[in-house]
Amino acid sequence: MRFEIVTIFPEFFSSIFENGILRRALAEGLVTVEVHDLRAFTHDRHRTVDDRPFGGGEGMVLKPEPLAEALASLGIRSKAERQEDSQAAESIPSEGGGGFNPRIVPTNSTRALAPEGKPSSNPAPRTRVILLSAQGRPFTQALARELARTERVVLICGRYEGVDERINQLYCDMELSIGNYVLSGGELAAAVVVDATTRLVPGVLGNEASGEFESFGVADAEIAAAEDGVPRSQHGSGGLLDYPHYTRPAEFGGLRVPDTLLNGDHTEIRRWRREQQLRKTLANRPDLLEGAALSKEDRKLLETIREKTE
Ligand code: 6GU
Repeated sequence: MRFEIVTIFPEFFSSIFENGILRRALAEGLVTVEVHDLRAFTHDRHRTVDDRPFGGGEGMVLKPEPLAEALASLGIRSKAERQEDSQAAESIPSEGGGGFNPRIVPTNSTRALAPEGKPSSNPAPRTRVILLSAQGRPFTQALARELARTERVVLICGRYEGVDERINQLYCDMELSIGNYVLSGGELAAAVVVDATTRLVPGVLGNEASGEFESFGVADAEIAAAEDGVPRSQHGSGGLLDYPHYTRPAEFGGLRVPDTLLNGDHTEIRRWRREQQLRKTLANRPDLLEGAALSKEDRKLLETIREKTE
């Protein structure tokens, strides 16, 4: 899949994808990231990307024209135009065409071409245009999973006090926020979206399934349905936070690794881990318990934990 980031700080992304899983995914061509400098789409001497807000008020607003031009250069048409022929395959502009500016692609590794998008039988849209802003809807693991099935994700990084709303209206399929706090721009958020999405692209994680083992992974009906209430599978944590992990040494800083993890009884280990998931979720994210797939045994355990901590 292909990410295209539109930003006034292209240098921000020059090293951020050069480590770990992201680096490998890029090197293997499983994903590509192109970074486009918004200022390349200005025409005045000062390369102006912002202007004062109509109606007055603090700060500056990103002007619509450079953004519209940047999107046009990527072959992104308005939502209305895209919807008109949503049946027809959306054309991906050829490399180097359509005003693509190589100056703003910071590294070679991020330019490796993705394999041609396979025609897929699922109805996931092939292109998503996303505006990153504190006003957006929350970015979630579910949305990351959805984006991972999209061929092309265009990320527009908001700056200053905002982006002219007509860009949102005309071009953006969604406005996304990464949390309840205000960042000075959408760049960090774009990097978060690229990271969380890339690791869910098929072939990116060593273990195809391991993305589902962690916190926020998909619910596994098997856990809820387990007759004895002991989850048979750790596949999918049912919307709970992950359990704590330990490695050697068995004693560190005066703290021993819990005995259960050392004695090789895998039913016991599964049970212990499930309890830890419940404990951690209750302590740190009680809101997640409502949507979690909980077995009868889970509910009993939760009751016990709650009683003990009262
Ligand atoms: Cl996507 N942008 C900004 N500026 N602030 C944010 C955000 C995005 N998500 C959370 N806070």
